[in-house]
Amino acid sequence: MNQVVKKNALVNVLVIGGGGREHALAWKLAQSNRVHKVFVAPGNGGTALDSRMENINITEPGELLAWAATNDIALTLVGPEQPLAAGVVDLFRSQGMRIFGPTAAAAQLESSKAFSKAFMRRHGIPTADYDTFTDPAAAHAFVDRLGAPIVVKADGLAAGKGVVVAMNIAEAHAAVDFMLVDNTLGVTHNEGGARVIIEQFLTGEEASFIVMCDGKNVAVMATSQDHKRLLDGDVGPNTGGMGAYSPAPIVTPDVYARAMREVIFPTIKGMAEDGIPFTGFLYAGLMIETEGANKGHIKTLEFNCRMGDPETQPIMMRLKSDFFEVLWAATEPGAHGRLDKIELEWDRRTALGVVIAAEGYPMSPRKGDVMTGLPGKDSSVGDDAVVFHAGTAEKDGQTVTSGGRVLCVTALAESVKSAQLRAYEVAQDIAFAGMQYRKDIGHKAIKS
Ligand code: AMP
Ligand code: GLY
Repeated sequence: MNQVVKKNALVNVLVIGGGGREHALAWKLAQSNRVHKVFVAPGNGGTALDSRMENINITEPGELLAWAATNDIALTLVGPEQPLAAGVVDLFRSQGMRIFGPTAAAAQLESSKAFSKAFMRRHGIPTADYDTFTDPAAAHAFVDRLGAPIVVKADGLAAGKGVVVAMNIAEAHAAVDFMLVDNTLGVTHNEGGARVIIEQFLTGEEASFIVMCDGKNVAVMATSQDHKRLLDGDVGPNTGGMGAYSPAPIVTPDVYARAMREVIFPTIKGMAEDGIPFTGFLYAGLMIETEGANKGHIKTLEFNCRMGDPETQPIMMRLKSDFFEVLWAATEPGAHGRLDKIELEWDRRTALGVVIAAEGYPMSPRKGDVMTGLPGKDSSVGDDAVVFHAGTAEKDGQTVTSGGRVLCVTALAESVKSAQLRAYEVAQDIAFAGMQYRKDIGHKAIKS
């Protein structure tokens, strides 16, 4: 089947996923005057409320393809990593359907740490020194030889939980055992079974550097930074992300140039050379050295092959370009897309998002709590704040919690401080039993 869409006709689009990232992507797409309706599969309580969107209760890639092909979907955008790793892009493309994201082979940059580390080593992309292990005895010996602090990472997808930054060697030995021997994290193993990466501990400050790629050309997203730890002051367990803001002042023009030159361009070129051209969002998690002679030097902590969550929420609030037109250019049929024709425009103000999580997140979040104080159908509060939904669902006319990260309250303002004040002001009106959120999102970017 080949899709024929009349120039400037109104079209339907499909967003795959159901988190805060997908609500923000759908929210931005719905503003395009080329878009009739945004279907979200499976979506959440926020996308259910918005009349410009409609939830589709499908998640299996084959069923998504069949549904999209029979429902006039002109373009599909994939939010999370699991459907990408499962080959949803390959499947849609095999039927001539436009979809933005990497193939399963290219998604290995995220789905296999062994693949991405070997790729970086092969192409000279800066990253922490490391070794890969399948044999527990060899892994333990390596930990003893290197000493702590040291970092142990599971090879497969682990929903952000497969990394242990061990401050002493006992923790590192324990991590080797539960990743390699017991698999208590429930990691989806790649070919060859359980594998760990053990790598050098890096110091510095992290930033999210995200670009769009059409197989050849690159369009750079606004810079951003998230907060991975659960508690104020960046302590407590690692989470999927408790808040984010854009732009990230740590990404100075020098760091930006370095990231493009040392990480992004060599990755796009390297993937093409390896016969796996990269299409989709490429997210490089960077560690930026903040002290000493190497100040401003960068190392790649990880690649994701999708947008970040919650980074997407502030980034989409700052995007002024028509997102549909951008994705349409990126997926133009041919050897590669036409992102070279696109100039992304950004609001120069700062956007800041605060994640509101359920009681018990991240270990065992409680579900089913009734929520009050949410804004109306389009989730906006005035023209400077949006309450993006994540783990929410509609139940008997009420919105209830249905997951760990429940909302991301995102505000746009002149400075990080004023965006922070506005986001917390909006958050205060929202209530549900057991809600928790950090009170210091953006603190690293606020000069006291
Ligand atoms: P990753 O999924 O590889 O990005 O790791 C998750 C988090 O663990 C990162 O965001 C960092 O905070 C931390 N981390 C990962 N690798 C290292 C490293 N080599 N040194 C220090 N911290 C790290
Ligand atoms: N916020 C980090 C991520 O999306 O992986």
